[in-house]
Amino acid sequence: MNVPTLAAIAGKLVADDKGLLAMDESNPTCNKRFAKLGIPQTEEARRSYREWIVTTPGLADSISGVILYDETTRQKRGDATPLIDAIADAGIIPGIKVDTGAKDLAGHSGEKVTEGLDGLRDRLQEYFQMGARFAKWRAVITLGNGIPSRGCIEANAHALARYASLCQEAGLVPIVEPEVLMEGTHTLKLCCEVTEEVLTTVFDHLYTQRVMPEGLILKPNMILPGLACPVQAGIDEVADATVRCLLRAVPAAVPGIVFLSGGQSAELASSRLNAMNVRFKSSLPWALSFSFARAIQQPALELWQGKESHVTAAQHALAHRALCNRAARRGEYDATMEKADTASKSVAG
Ligand code: 13P
Repeated sequence: MNVPTLAAIAGKLVADDKGLLAMDESNPTCNKRFAKLGIPQTEEARRSYREWIVTTPGLADSISGVILYDETTRQKRGDATPLIDAIADAGIIPGIKVDTGAKDLAGHSGEKVTEGLDGLRDRLQEYFQMGARFAKWRAVITLGNGIPSRGCIEANAHALARYASLCQEAGLVPIVEPEVLMEGTHTLKLCCEVTEEVLTTVFDHLYTQRVMPEGLILKPNMILPGLACPVQAGIDEVADATVRCLLRAVPAAVPGIVFLSGGQSAELASSRLNAMNVRFKSSLPWALSFSFARAIQQPALELWQGKESHVTAAQHALAHRALCNRAARRGEYDATMEKADTASKSVAG
């Protein structure tokens, strides 16, 4: 394992106030999002979608790396350039989702364990040769009656650590993503307690599997009350709870923490990230950044609707969300950025 090289890649992924764009939806998930908007659920529609995303003008101003799904790594632009090369040529680091999904955990009703370790060493070598320099594995933890169980947390933490160790061996920076889901009636306090337990368990397993913290990126949820909790939290309350939880659980040697959006609206995700950086940036050991899928893509996807004539407007919306999140990393995001963008769109007609 080459620790300085891994640390350099991890550092680049969170440098210059940029963040990550997750565009690694599996085919079934991507198809579900297309179906809701009446977009054909075909390989060509997915290829075309990913092509206009990665060729969005100015994307590299705010995005340091993109996370791809296997299908995309084998697709080409209209001019036959592999998409993965087009990404690297734009100055963006290509990454790859390598887990094979969350499956029911035996003996644990209502809980999941993420699979994908079988054959992973060989797959990582192939992705490295294709040009990927980082990878992602997502574990999901559900809150509910009597869950999460210790068994679920341990099984997922162990798999994340095995994955991360294999990634570092192959020269890829692992994005370690244990997601505590937003669905449920739980309070902010419970989300905080469960997330702290999950993160401390994950770092315990990472240590046991000899994963170098300098060469990984953590991708956690923000600390939020469940979507169905009657008491919702203010933006600063979320920022404070999230940073407090992370300070307790994440080693200072980790270079960066990139949040998932998890179903938050695009504007709320930007506002909450912004509040964390306004209140704490100068005193934190790691960068606080973003690795959003829905909170960057969704507004653009809704504009695109699968129509070639809508690509320019959709690319504009995508670049705008990426820029808002870069501003949030600096603690310079505010609602006027959204209004200014609406005004420019109406001027452009
Ligand atoms: P969301 O930002 O839509 O939660 O997706 C992030 C992600 O990569 C999930 O694995």
